[in-house]
Amino acid sequence: MELFDVYPLYNITPVKGDGCYVYDKSGKKYLDLYGGHAVISIGHAHPNYVQAIQTQVAKLGFYSNSINNPLQNELAGKLERIAGIRDYALFLCSSGAEANENALKVASFHTGKDRIIYFENAFHGRTSGVVAITDNETIKAPFNKGHKATRLAFNNIAALETELKKKDVAAVIFEVIQGVGGLDEADSGFYKAAADICKEYNVMLIADEVQSGYGRTGDFFAFQRHGIRPDIISMAKGMGNGFPVGAILIDNKITPRYGMLGTTFGGNHLACAAAISVLDTIKEENLMQNAAEVSEYIREEAAKISEIKKIKGRGLMIGLEFDFEIAALRKELLFDFQIFTGASSNKKLLRILPPLTIQKEHFQVFFEALRQVLINQKISSETS
Ligand SMILES: Cc1ncc(COP(=O)(O)O)c(C=O)c1O
Repeated sequence: MELFDVYPLYNITPVKGDGCYVYDKSGKKYLDLYGGHAVISIGHAHPNYVQAIQTQVAKLGFYSNSINNPLQNELAGKLERIAGIRDYALFLCSSGAEANENALKVASFHTGKDRIIYFENAFHGRTSGVVAITDNETIKAPFNKGHKATRLAFNNIAALETELKKKDVAAVIFEVIQGVGGLDEADSGFYKAAADICKEYNVMLIADEVQSGYGRTGDFFAFQRHGIRPDIISMAKGMGNGFPVGAILIDNKITPRYGMLGTTFGGNHLACAAAISVLDTIKEENLMQNAAEVSEYIREEAAKISEIKKIKGRGLMIGLEFDFEIAALRKELLFDFQIFTGASSNKKLLRILPPLTIQKEHFQVFFEALRQVLINQKISSETS
């Protein structure tokens, strides 16, 4: 049987991961500055992670959500402490789209309203409700277009207030730093004003931290820099270091009821063991601090390269915007220098999303390679 062909593939077959590297079947070593799309938080095959999963699967890998699972409570407690947040409850699921889908549902249940506000360049996932609030018409099927959703310009508070005044809006959802959309971040004034008017009109403010959360920006959640308190916070990618786990944090003012949300796989024993080992490792190895320190180094080095016009993002969620489209540059980094990087809908932006364990030495290798690629490109453009 053929695979349903929806992914354009690089002809590389990683078979092993170790820290910030992956290896293909011939043993070739690749530096992972992409983290499997911002997923690898504590590094490939981290010993804590391997041990936690192996131990748990040998005891109990799965049972349903109809029994006590103390691992869920342990995860909730640790998440609260490491993130430094209070008065939220945790609902566990298995992916970023599912987290956002549940966030929208909670907001709609709580407010009794049904329209969602999202922003230009947003990406919130591919399931029905969240693809409807993703700014990419090419990935919406006719079925997905039936949801009540309104797209607004990021950073325009007047437009937001005009919509909220209509009183049918359940939630405003935003990525604090846009990922797929190209690393844009509104200013604190916008987030604060949005939070205030959401409160005024009983609209839930949802921070999609699926990509920017879990220490990636140097803070546990990216919104924490803006002095706001979202009503719902969604997370996934870095949470399981590759194990499929997602979650939402829901403000305690929102009352749960049986049947309001549910999932078979969410919060299973194995997923919790993986997620707990990620949190423990982030803490033990000071990975948020590392993200902030390495980020400084990247910024300093990137600023020395004249072809880089803008440095976007925070921590280890970085975008380097060049004065040309970067598809060929990415390919050369990958195939000539064995360095994985990411792209975005902004074709000039190189995305850097490495494991949070990455060190300056890894970036020295990257910047040397980048300089070499830029020299090669210059030579070939001069000779062509
Ligand atoms: C900000 C954001 N939200 C949601 C999602 C969807 O997550 P998943 O692919 O796990 O469904 C993504 C995935 O890239 C994302 O970047």
